[in-house]
Amino acid sequence: MNKSQTVQPIKSIDELASFCKRRGFVYPGSELYGGLSGFWDYGPLGVELKNKIKADWWKRFVSDRDDVVGIDGAIVNNQQIWVASGHVGSFADVLVDCKRCGTKHRADVLINDILTIPADSMTVEQMKETISKNNIKCPACKKGELTEPRKFNLLFKTHVGAVEGEKSAAYLRGETCQTIFVNFKNVFDTARVKLPFGIAQMGKAFRNEIAPRDFLFRSREFEQMELEFFADPRKLDDCPEFEKIAKKKVSVLTAAEQIKKSQNVTEMTFGELAEKVYVKSKWHAYWLCQHYDWLLELGISAENLRLREHTKDELSHYAVATFDIEYKFPFGWKELGGQADRGQFDLTQHSKFSKKDLSCFDEETKQRFIPYVAAEPSQGVDRAFLALLAEAYTIDGDRIVLKLKPKLAPVQVAVFPLLKNDEKLLKFALEVRKELKEKFITHYEESGNIGKSYRRQDEIGTPVCITVDFDSLKKKDVTVRDRDTMKQTRVKVKDLEKYLKELIN
Ligand code: GAP
Repeated sequence: MNKSQTVQPIKSIDELASFCKRRGFVYPGSELYGGLSGFWDYGPLGVELKNKIKADWWKRFVSDRDDVVGIDGAIVNNQQIWVASGHVGSFADVLVDCKRCGTKHRADVLINDILTIPADSMTVEQMKETISKNNIKCPACKKGELTEPRKFNLLFKTHVGAVEGEKSAAYLRGETCQTIFVNFKNVFDTARVKLPFGIAQMGKAFRNEIAPRDFLFRSREFEQMELEFFADPRKLDDCPEFEKIAKKKVSVLTAAEQIKKSQNVTEMTFGELAEKVYVKSKWHAYWLCQHYDWLLELGISAENLRLREHTKDELSHYAVATFDIEYKFPFGWKELGGQADRGQFDLTQHSKFSKKDLSCFDEETKQRFIPYVAAEPSQGVDRAFLALLAEAYTIDGDRIVLKLKPKLAPVQVAVFPLLKNDEKLLKFALEVRKELKEKFITHYEESGNIGKSYRRQDEIGTPVCITVDFDSLKKKDVTVRDRDTMKQTRVKVKDLEKYLKELIN
């Protein structure tokens, strides 16, 4: 049988979780003490991949642009930030408990899992009716009756200082963007920026999820990369780069299709997305395209990506319009990232609650106005990490291969001496490694079993392995082996850097 016929993708998220633990990408949080649900620790290879995803995002969305600046805000915030943002009042999921075994379930997920109907836009009353009409029982113990659904706020509350009381209460941020909004005036006054411009931030966010699940997909502590793009509300279509993206195509699951309970996607251009008023502005379509293109360039295939328009009923309290970028995970199409048009909601709320003026002055009309958030590219780091692993994990014949793009691979070049007990060979292999160490992320190993070493590197996604053998001592060349094709090429040591740069970059 042809080897390519045996190539298989990932089968389940559990397979990926156990692979991640075995290979040092991700470990269950607090495992030594029995674990803590919804928390994960990244291992030596995981942290490398995660840092590369973050660096790539920052470069593309911040450093390479003239119209975006970054900040790094605090994680613990004054409680008023979260009152003003609407999260203390509205950032809740609907919870039901099993009266028999006590297991807690997120009501919309339960209904969706059991009846396979979308439930995230149902009201508490509708969920109650659906659970009762369909006689839904606890899926954990299979018998228990469920309590009436009730709202459960997702913010983590803490106390600052020695005295615990309502005055010392503070919140861990539930989304990174709120520290962008509360620093809007600071940035505007100090960073020499002009509308339209963006403020970006990446960092931890915390949500006390009722049912963390699907490995890293829904956790209680995670990282976000977010950008708030502020514009003059009368100039939301003044997007100079729009023509460049207008003809690019994307699959879209529109709100209208979802209302008809259909999953039919429409192939359309980003231009049509703006012209047919699916999004309110050209800037929103532009940023959706930037986000989508970034995911493609990281190595996610277009057939596993689609945009999903939020229906009116499911829009968050702050949103004018929202599109999720969904990925076809092993457990179905789910939100990978998202982008809301947040209008003037956040700056208006923070102006009102802080009693500080967050408006800008228009020199032409001599009037003040609140800037408009035309788009909010928001991407979970952990979900990008998960999608990239799901996409790259391949069973190719008898080997597991992580087909990551070389720029993302935790190790780029692995160097092995053919034998581990020949001094001359070891010395030469170490010299080769030393030459490459400054230019690439390298790994050196004296295993003495090249076949096994190749397999280990294939599994962690190392694009290139180099073997130093006895011919190398005479001819000053090495064997370079390609991860995906397994093709082996002899390359002179003096040409190695150039050869590898072409292969890796
Ligand atoms: N500021 C907008 C915002 O926070 P969101 O859709 O709630 O919007 C944005 O979150 C992104 O953050 C999601 O698309 C996802 O990538 C990531 N995310 C949200 N909740 C998460 C969770 N519990 N675990 C992991 N990632 C999460």
